[in-house]
Amino acid sequence: MRTRILELLRQHAGHYVSGEEISKQLAVSRTAVWKHIQALKNAGYDIEAHSRLGYSLRQAPDLLLPAEIAARLKTTVFGKEIRYFAEIGSTNNEAKRLAAEGCPEGLIVVAEAQNTGRGRLARGWFSPFGKGIWLSVVLRPSFHPLDAPKCTLMAAVALTKAIHKVTDAPCGIKWPNDILYEGKKLVGILTEMSAEMDAINYVVIGMGINVNIAPDEFPPELRDIATSVAAAAGRPVSRLALLAEVLAELETVYCLAVSQGFDPVLDEWRKLSITLGQQVNVLAPGETFTGIAVNIDNEGALLVDTGQGVRRVLAGDVSI
Ligand code: BTN
Repeated sequence: MRTRILELLRQHAGHYVSGEEISKQLAVSRTAVWKHIQALKNAGYDIEAHSRLGYSLRQAPDLLLPAEIAARLKTTVFGKEIRYFAEIGSTNNEAKRLAAEGCPEGLIVVAEAQNTGRGRLARGWFSPFGKGIWLSVVLRPSFHPLDAPKCTLMAAVALTKAIHKVTDAPCGIKWPNDILYEGKKLVGILTEMSAEMDAINYVVIGMGINVNIAPDEFPPELRDIATSVAAAAGRPVSRLALLAEVLAELETVYCLAVSQGFDPVLDEWRKLSITLGQQVNVLAPGETFTGIAVNIDNEGALLVDTGQGVRRVLAGDVSI
């Protein structure tokens, strides 16, 4: 009901809608309308109430509330079901729990803050309240489990395109899936999967986007390696606008992967990469070496020309 009241108020943005009109259109009593308006105000909506004219929405809170996300969605599947938390341990854990219970593809879990946000390689993920997008999306792809790691490359493509759409932040992808600006990380991606030998039950793509975190708000140990979209864009960035764009780009690139395979996705990755053509240090399991990153192959592995031949790096980390 609150979502529908908000919709009505939004349709009449800049004007008043009378309590009577709302109660007629939504078939509820005027007292019920008043109660819902109070609840919306308590949730942070700035709604002006005028005894004769009715209600007018002045400003929505800067929160990733489901009604606000829904009002901006451009997708057909992703984000149609939203689980919202002011605070949670990890959106990925919750998304995996819901996926194991049988939730539909495209469900998203989003939180204002995570208190045990998880990164790759069992690291933590700094996730302060209201400053980023801490998001997990449930997928149920028909492709082979061996292709699942490419979902991370796919998400990196979608995230970079979304950031480029909403801001002019000059960021790009460092292999395999970090999104960097001036050598510092803006976004991290954690893809997790449950699968049988030859079929995927679900994939959860977890995305941590540092949106409006000021440099001095990062813990000291992250200040040299992390930055935010706002810092890259030189202005605060609307988390809702960026989230809507991320879901739109992710749905587009996912549909492309499902219908045509990953080759066109990998081509997009190559265009957005800041690793290819660079001299890199490779930290592979058990060894390190340097060379020029020349390409990624159709498995997403990095091809590094060491001068003595081309080495294929499937797992590990690179520094540029
Ligand atoms: C990385 O180490 O680069 C990956 C970081 C992934 C963080 C995101 S935030 C939303 C989702 N929930 C988590 O606990 N982790 C991912």
